[in-house]
Amino acid sequence: MIIAVDGPTASGKGTIAKALAAHFGLPVLDTGLLYRAVGYQTQLNHGDADNFADALAACDFPDALLDDPALRYETTGGLASRVSIHPQVRAALFQRQVDFANQPGGAVLDGRDIGTVIAPHADAKLFVTATPEERARRRHAEMIGRGVDVSLDAVIADVHARDARDTGRADAPLIRAADAMLLDNTNMDKDAALAAAIAFVEGRRALLG
Ligand code: C5P
Repeated sequence: MIIAVDGPTASGKGTIAKALAAHFGLPVLDTGLLYRAVGYQTQLNHGDADNFADALAACDFPDALLDDPALRYETTGGLASRVSIHPQVRAALFQRQVDFANQPGGAVLDGRDIGTVIAPHADAKLFVTATPEERARRRHAEMIGRGVDVSLDAVIADVHARDARDTGRADAPLIRAADAMLLDNTNMDKDAALAAAIAFVEGRRALLG
């Protein structure tokens, strides 16, 4: 069974993807990490994330980079959303994601274009979202908890900027697949959102027989 989990930044899609993987006993790939690695490697190379040749050169980052805590930084997320605009970068990361999705037994992948581009044939697709203000509020609380000194207004502006880049790019923009379940968790806690996701995937699995 292939499960595609897409959604905007700070929507909780990563948490849901990991929990679905644990529940259904499937491997999980956070595809955002690949784009983060390219963004970070571009910086390590002293390249420019907006320049496609610099970003493309960073696509052969060493696998060990995927474990670097720096990939989780907000600044790296910003770099990722800049390098991910280049079609050449998306093409370079394409096969790795397709192979992960199509491995025997299936997989869970989370990202922006899993249900539309990477695994349009996925058995269950979810589009996880919440209002930009709510996503920013959660991200801000999480950052304050980690001791990062940042204003809510700055996080709201960052969420809007990332949404605009992710939905506005020409190649593989963030969009809900027509057959994806919309899971808007603005007014849901984590447990309720997860229960809804599991119920949806169970239903899809029952249909598959
Ligand atoms: O999900 P995460 O915030 O880690 O992703 C970082 C950035 O990578 C996103 O803002 C998006 O621009 C890009 N991305 C993408 N396609 C994916 C996953 C992430 O373009 N499948």
